[in-house]
Amino acid sequence: VKLHDLPTPAVVIDADRLQHNLTTMATAHPGASLRPHVKAHKCTELAAMQHAQGHHSFTCATPREVIGMAEAGWGDDLLLANEVLDPLRLSAMARAQQSARITIAVDSADTIDAAARAGLREVVVDVNVGLPRCGCRPDEAGHIADLARGRGLLVRGVMGYEGHLMMVDDREEHRTKVDDAIDRLLEAHEQVGGDVVSAGGTGTYHLHQLRRRVTEIQAGSYALMDTHYARLGHPFQQACFVIGTVVSATPKYAVADVGLKAMGMDHGNPSVETLDGNGADVWFLSDEHVTFVPHTGVAHVGDRIRVVPAHIDPTMAMHEVAWLVMGDQVIDRWPIDLRGW
Ligand SMILES: Cc1ncc(COP(=O)(O)O)c(C=O)c1O
Repeated sequence: VKLHDLPTPAVVIDADRLQHNLTTMATAHPGASLRPHVKAHKCTELAAMQHAQGHHSFTCATPREVIGMAEAGWGDDLLLANEVLDPLRLSAMARAQQSARITIAVDSADTIDAAARAGLREVVVDVNVGLPRCGCRPDEAGHIADLARGRGLLVRGVMGYEGHLMMVDDREEHRTKVDDAIDRLLEAHEQVGGDVVSAGGTGTYHLHQLRRRVTEIQAGSYALMDTHYARLGHPFQQACFVIGTVVSATPKYAVADVGLKAMGMDHGNPSVETLDGNGADVWFLSDEHVTFVPHTGVAHVGDRIRVVPAHIDPTMAMHEVAWLVMGDQVIDRWPIDLRGW
């Protein structure tokens, strides 16, 4: 099968670029110092490649991701880096502990109670390091850890996600702010104990490589990348595209079948390019369409285009399948099997 034969919109992963990204990150953060976040691809086949790079522990965002990873056999050490209260999903994860090691984030008496009641065994204390996200205050972390231990849970350590600091432009300011966030996490860790200090993402991986103050980083986007992260100029290549077909064309603009139901839009419009690499001005996306003007002039009905996501995570979550390609040859079909909650 060739790229041109795929029904569109189609998520396509460039095998060579993916491999480049995985190797680059594994060199910076080898083995257990990277806990790849599967939310960025939601695909156990891709997780298998990360496993083959030597990363045997994974970060998950949803119970579905945890259970899917356990079922796929990648359950050596799964961290659900989010709080969960739903007793059914917590119990499903507790059952998955028969074949997997599962640790869940907690930041309150309620989340501890829910995890303990369901039969989960291990937790990390989620600490707010400056992002208005989940997480307790650093000075509350010791108390949260005591509550968890009081409920018979093993407290493995702390996590804190400095998501607000992924895109700071000024290098010095970036380093200082990440340092401050990690100070907060380490302050919490002193009270909590345990051997896990988990933080970081694609936007801060290089700072954690320079100063190894955490035990592991939770990067996910680096594997497939998006135009948002590409702005940082890190050595990761764009490995994922959504292929579309021009379904209508005028002398002034063209319309292709990749709309906002096939593309995560919270980081703005995607980029559009022709398969031979020429760019385009994107006017807008509607439900099923992207309207654009190719830099080369007129597009023709039936032309194929590459739409480059501005945000990879929600884009992957909208598709059932990703096609692995080498050049224009399709070499594999990967189910995006960790979707849902
Ligand atoms: C808890 C957590 N850890 C890590 C990440 C890092 O992911 P990325 O590699 O996309 O920066 C995210 C992304 O949102 C996250 O929510």
